[in-house]
Amino acid sequence: MAASDDHHAVLDRQTGPFDTLTAALGGLFVGHCLASVARFSVADALDDTPRTAQELAEVTGANPEALSRVLRLLAAHGVFAASDDRFTHTGASRMLRSDHPQSWRDFVATFGTERTVKQLGYFDYSLQTGLPATNKLNPDGFFAILQSDPEAGRIFDAAMVSKARIQVASVLAAYDFSDCGTIADIGGGQGHLLQAVVDAAERTTGILFDLPPVIERAAEIASDRLTLQAGDFFKDPLPVCDTYMLMDVIHDWDVERATAILAAVRKAAPPHARLLLVESVVPDDPGPDWSKAMDIMMLIHTGGRQRTHSEHESLLQTCGFRLERVVATTSDVSILEAVRA
Ligand SMILES: C[S@@+](CC[C@H](N)C(=O)[O-])C[C@H]1O[C@@H](n2cnc3c(N)ncnc32)[C@H](O)[C@@H]1O
Repeated sequence: MAASDDHHAVLDRQTGPFDTLTAALGGLFVGHCLASVARFSVADALDDTPRTAQELAEVTGANPEALSRVLRLLAAHGVFAASDDRFTHTGASRMLRSDHPQSWRDFVATFGTERTVKQLGYFDYSLQTGLPATNKLNPDGFFAILQSDPEAGRIFDAAMVSKARIQVASVLAAYDFSDCGTIADIGGGQGHLLQAVVDAAERTTGILFDLPPVIERAAEIASDRLTLQAGDFFKDPLPVCDTYMLMDVIHDWDVERATAILAAVRKAAPPHARLLLVESVVPDDPGPDWSKAMDIMMLIHTGGRQRTHSEHESLLQTCGFRLERVVATTSDVSILEAVRA
């Protein structure tokens, strides 16, 4: 075999693995483009008329040439579509519009900011220790940063409302809350899930429980059927209710802290109470799944984790709950329904 044939044979053999690596590493830049475009509100600047990057740049303040390259990459991944030199919406890019009923804009926009990039700079620390990279910025952890920086707290709250839109709709469609009585949403943020549940099930009432600054920012949702209670679930007693709901809360914590939160729920819960964990269930299937990416986000940000079915089940068991059923939804979360064991 001539030297050049040999060279090509090696290249051919490497095409598959090389493609796998470039696709994986390229994802980093796709994510950055997505987040930046969300911050520049590019999707809001695009209506149903195809627009050039120049036109979109004029409205958003981006550099036209840079925007055209960013949109070319995103369009290659199904976010916006490119035809000639114009861009149009796809279903995915529409979800970046602020007025989309399930807008993900404020959630996506929080990725790749100065603070999150600083955290990612300590990724190797997380890999080496299993501890959150956030510790390098504040040893008291992620939520301490949000409590001490009201602007960061507001941005995070808005990101959670945005993240949860599609989840809230899917949870309401999958679960009948009509006989849930008084429902405590523990770590319920701005009360977006609880408010939707109480609106949908007229015999229910709600108690939103979260840290004081978060509850202060949620003040306007209070009503005769929805009360707010500020507190720390590691220190303060939880309200006595018929149903306890925790969405994307347990995933923020390692097993020790997650156990402490569920033990606090168990302590407050009357014998008939039901517990609804609204969480991802990491599939046993080894293929790609959003929960596996979120799991790394938890590792870096909070030291938490996404859990498999058996991890959820054994955590609940340790805390005196019996997992009765898992209700799948059309979004990334399932509803894990448990009762006191
Ligand atoms: C990932 S967010 C989830 C918010 C909301 N449940 C959702 O899914 O959109 C976690 C929530 O837990 C709250 N939280 C964190 N530490 C807490 C504590 N020690 N006591 C009470 N709430 C806490 C945060 O303020 C935040 O609202």
